[in-house]
Amino acid sequence: MSLALAFESSCDETGVALVRGGREVLIAPLYSQVGEHRPYGGVVPEYASRAHLEKFTPLLSEILRTHRLRPGEIDYVAVTVRPGLVGALLVGYQSALAAARYFKAPLIGVHHLEAHLAAVRLSGHEMPYHALGLLLSGGNSAIYRLRAPGVIEVVGVTRDDAAGEALDKGAQALGMGYPGGPLIEKAAYLFSSQNGIKPGEEELTRRQNIFPVIMKDSPQQSVEFSFSGLKTALLTYRQKFAEADVAEISFFYQERIIEHIIRNTRRAVLANKGMPLIAAGGVLANSRLRQALAKLAEELNFALIIPELKYCTDNAAMVAAAAELYFEKQILSPFNAVSSEHGFA
Ligand code: KG4
Repeated sequence: MSLALAFESSCDETGVALVRGGREVLIAPLYSQVGEHRPYGGVVPEYASRAHLEKFTPLLSEILRTHRLRPGEIDYVAVTVRPGLVGALLVGYQSALAAARYFKAPLIGVHHLEAHLAAVRLSGHEMPYHALGLLLSGGNSAIYRLRAPGVIEVVGVTRDDAAGEALDKGAQALGMGYPGGPLIEKAAYLFSSQNGIKPGEEELTRRQNIFPVIMKDSPQQSVEFSFSGLKTALLTYRQKFAEADVAEISFFYQERIIEHIIRNTRRAVLANKGMPLIAAGGVLANSRLRQALAKLAEELNFALIIPELKYCTDNAAMVAAAAELYFEKQILSPFNAVSSEHGFA
């Protein structure tokens, strides 16, 4: 069975992993740069590149301390090459290239969004083709149709911000800190439990949400995302009602985001009947969202596959999971040049 060494550095997580057969994670040390970026309320690209530069060597040493690998013992090296912060990607690419030369192994460039979806393989699932992929992270929000490795069609993307970005910026506007997703989730949960409000779409129609429905009048078939209007609504509300309860704002803000995601997912599933849905990306750490997706899957009767939580956020094991799809067929991925582009072609 193949043995892969994988590198991830598209944004603010530095990861290296040793993975067998694209499924079995032997070791996957990961360094999260969240602490470095927290004072700025978001990822600072140049700081991200510098932190990757500092962290790859110790992470790789951690692997080599426990697994004494010699040249010829690695079947391939995998690395994220797009999309992402270009400086950060270049650091990962150069590190992976050096490892590939040392181990005398081929280098497979991986598309970051395909890697997020391939993360399901790390928990024993086959990569389903003719499937939908819902990807929600700090930098991307989209629904894809998966046909084959690298053959991935866009069903709908965001016009502006990503879902995670909306949560991060919303939390920043509320003075909560960074990253915003988990902070908003916690505050929203507190509000709903203290006030006996059960989150859910029915509840929102009964009780007046302080924020408008996102893209309320979009055509029935539209699967486009948009989060920047909601962010503006939050800023305006905050300016008008400076004393308003942050937990209450968090609750209604999160509810509108989830409602929008569920509405688009519903539309995509109905237009692609019978296809399973992979849901991945850091925002899937949100338990209210996972619940809402599970409810939708039950209602519309489709298979919902969510990677293990630790593989939902950026990590290197998922990079090997995707690269293996190419290695199995002895195809070196078409994504060999570092790029900020999202496109699959
Ligand atoms: O996939 P990811 O690690 O990659 C990017 O850096 O894009 O996703 C990070 C995003 C952040 O925007 C963060 O706020 C969000 O995932 N996130 C969450 C939760 N945990 C992380 N969003 C909602 N609820 C959470 N519990």
